[in-house]
Amino acid sequence: MIKDIQSEIMRLKKELDFLLLVHCYQSHDILEVADFVGDSFGLAQKAAKSGAKNIMMCGVRFMAETVKILCPEKRVYLPEPDAGCPMADQLSPEDLRALKEEYPDYTAVCYINTTAKLKTLCDVCVTSSSAVQIIGRIDNDRILFIPDCNLGDYVSKKLPGKTFKFIKGGCPNHARMTLAEAERAKEKHPGALMLVHPECRPEVVDLADYAGSTTGIMDFARDSECSEFIIGTENSIISHLSIDYPEKRFYPLSKDCICQNMKLTTISSVLNTLLSAGGMAAPYGEEILLDEETRLGAKRCIDRMLELG
Ligand code: 13P
Ligand code: SF4
Repeated sequence: MIKDIQSEIMRLKKELDFLLLVHCYQSHDILEVADFVGDSFGLAQKAAKSGAKNIMMCGVRFMAETVKILCPEKRVYLPEPDAGCPMADQLSPEDLRALKEEYPDYTAVCYINTTAKLKTLCDVCVTSSSAVQIIGRIDNDRILFIPDCNLGDYVSKKLPGKTFKFIKGGCPNHARMTLAEAERAKEKHPGALMLVHPECRPEVVDLADYAGSTTGIMDFARDSECSEFIIGTENSIISHLSIDYPEKRFYPLSKDCICQNMKLTTISSVLNTLLSAGGMAAPYGEEILLDEETRLGAKRCIDRMLELG
């Protein structure tokens, strides 16, 4: 059954000239039909270079918006309109304007997990894999970083020469993992390396052997000579790694790190969105549309990220 759906998706992608971009937190059956699987930086880079007429983003809304911002001439689809990122909505444009007034000498840097509207008010945007490099290259030692204070803390420790201001934002799924859980996992698996996302709490990141983006974690596990790993990020990464490297063992830092928003997209949503875009079925999914002023304002911020990264 899943194989049939996957074959139909492969056929329709070609017929309708669709590029399928898939974030690492999607389920394995979606990864198998992807043209590209990656972290948010890799997805943005790929979108910027794509020649396809249509792009489907299997991930969450800010990722689809990023594609539309970079590729206005393409039709961009999000299969499940409710797939948002709670972190992206934590700060309103009014809140950010007030912060910028409070810290006028600071360069406003936003995590890519933000709405297009927020990006219009920032100087540069970063992802978890590019934040240290990009902020390190900014010609100002004062950085207002929104909204993830955990990622901000991670970056600030790597760049001690800069002064940072944060708000209390972040990913509810990563921030839920505790130091006690991390310590318990280490005790249970003493031979394992602990790999975490920098959206985790600082005390969890401090205990880890490696902190990096979703792709960074997967690449580290692939390249490492170690055969056991505790994974501190969305638990889909554990199933992907277990399938790709059956000779290695992967344990969750916490069983609770599941992003329900990422889980909304299923292999059937992908097929239904393709059928709908091709006029072969009832409307499904959402075509991302942005007004030109918002798009251009947000593009400036993303272009700067692609230049500096
Ligand atoms: P990456 O940039 O590592 O893919 O992270 C995106 C994300 O939403 C992590 O929770
Ligand atoms: Fe957003 Fe967290 Fe889900 Fe990533 S895991 S998309 S940051 S809610």
